[in-house]
Amino acid sequence: MNTYRATYLIGVCLLLIGMFTSCKHDEHEYHSITDKIKAESENYKGTTLSSEAHIGDLKTIEITEGDETFFIPERESHIKSFKCTECHTKPVSEMSSDDFKKAHWNIKLDHANSKTMNCVTCHNGNDMDHLKSLTGEQIRFNKSHQMCAQCHSRQFEDWKGGAHGKRIAGWAPPRVSNTCVNCHDPHAPHFESRWPARYNPIKEKQRE
Ligand code: HEC
Ligand code: HEC
Ligand code: HEC
Ligand code: HEC
Repeated sequence: MNTYRATYLIGVCLLLIGMFTSCKHDEHEYHSITDKIKAESENYKGTTLSSEAHIGDLKTIEITEGDETFFIPERESHIKSFKCTECHTKPVSEMSSDDFKKAHWNIKLDHANSKTMNCVTCHNGNDMDHLKSLTGEQIRFNKSHQMCAQCHSRQFEDWKGGAHGKRIAGWAPPRVSNTCVNCHDPHAPHFESRWPARYNPIKEKQRE
């Protein structure tokens, strides 16, 4: 009886020691979910998924703003009247619209008030193929977000981080994000607030 009990106790002890000392396990067995995350993230090489197939033929350019590097759609080939210097060979003040009946009749500025902004706040009268910063630096049309960022730094920071705007294709890399002018017309950027479309049961009843 005693020997039986002793053997039994020794057995239990060995089992317990075994349980607590042997941390060797198969690749896929862990003591806890935290251990599993720690162990499996050690050699993590990033996702193997890619959005590439969904981006298709869209022409993009790579930009680096602060800590973020990502892609935005290319713009210059989408701007109908580009290159501007096909007509803008001299300063606007010396140009007359007689030759080109109201060249930009379709553009009406509805952005900030006229004390803050006019055409040449953003466009460079002496170099129409580029935008310009408030301090007169050249900005390419492809990087117009840098021009918007000067005055809308909060939305710009959010956009950089992915909280304002929208990604193209999917969440898997490479990251391609719509740029400001893909959504906002720079000449009239405001969106009207809208009520959500709502199902009206009373109207539906009357229709029946
Ligand atoms: C087909 C010729 C043509 C092209 C192309 C063209 N412009 Fe013009 N633009 C004009 C003429 C003419 C005027 C001056 C008279 C007027 O306002 O119609 C003008 C005036 C302007 C003005 C001054 C408007 C004002 O009210 O002071 C801006 C800014 C301007 N253009 C920007 C651009 C930009 C940016 C591009 C290229 C994306 C461009 N233009 C391409 C013909 C052209
Ligand atoms: C807030 C900055 C800003 C102001 C102010 C502004 N523009 Fe622009 N404009 C832009 C940007 C940015 C683009 C390029 C948009 C894009 O990528 O599609 C542009 C594009 C244009 C184009 C090319 C449009 C096309 O599709 O061919 C013309 C022409 C133009 N602007 C003329 C003007 C004129 C004239 C004024 C003044 C009445 C004016 N802009 C005021 C920022 C501005
Ligand atoms: C020189 C400064 C300046 C630049 C550059 C500028 N904006 Fe603005 N923007 C303003 C001001 C001022 C207002 C009007 C005040 C407000 O509503 O914040 C405004 C208004 C707006 C609004 C409407 C805000 C609302 O409440 O609905 C949007 C959207 C906007 N801008 C987007 C842009 C985009 C996109 C660009 C670049 C193409 C740009 N802005 C460039 C100064 C600027
Ligand atoms: C995918 C489309 C999209 C892109 C890209 C985008 N915006 Fe917007 N933005 C919106 C919409 C939609 C609203 C209106 C939100 C609302 O009314 O609640 C908005 C609102 C704004 C406003 C008004 C104030 C606010 O926060 O509601 C400003 C200013 C603005 N955007 C600037 C920018 C600038 C600058 C960029 C680029 C750095 C940018 N946006 C990129 C869609 C976009």
